Amino acid sequence: MRGRVAIMHGVNLDTLGSRNPAHYGTLTLTELEARVRTYASELGLDPSFFQTNHEGEFCEELHAAPGYCDALVLNPGAWTHYSWAIRDALEVSGLPAVEVHLSAVDEREEWRRVSVIRELSIGSVQGKGVEGYREALGLLRDRLAEAVG
Ligand code: DQA
Repeated sequence: MRGRVAIMHGVNLDTLGSRNPAHYGTLTLTELEARVRTYASELGLDPSFFQTNHEGEFCEELHAAPGYCDALVLNPGAWTHYSWAIRDALEVSGLPAVEVHLSAVDEREEWRRVSVIRELSIGSVQGKGVEGYREALGLLRDRLAEAVG
């Protein structure tokens, strides 16, 4: 099984640790990535990490992703709710993806309940904090194992 998974964070997620802990927890992005790296290795996956506050850079990373990974864990932050550009770039990538949100977006403001990437994702995990990344990696591991047959 090819198990290279890119974990991509979007706008404002570099401020984890100082953002509202009631929604986003207390881990910094670096601490969260270390945790996710452990989950990935427990599942036999090989993770890589990316974060940007620039929408075009996020799109370009999605364009490049098929060249270096087999699946995606995406937390695009607020772009989730309105970036058709990121939705289209995900479609271009053709990769299996799971959408993750630290907070329970469907239980917050109305505008956060919309996700333009959900229909292209094989799963969506929200409201479980960093644990949600473990669930997302498990879904992708199962999908990649199926693909091998
Ligand atoms: C988020 C939820 C988004 O609504 C928000 O804009 C974020 C983080 C989450 O992980 O809960 O930046 O994606």
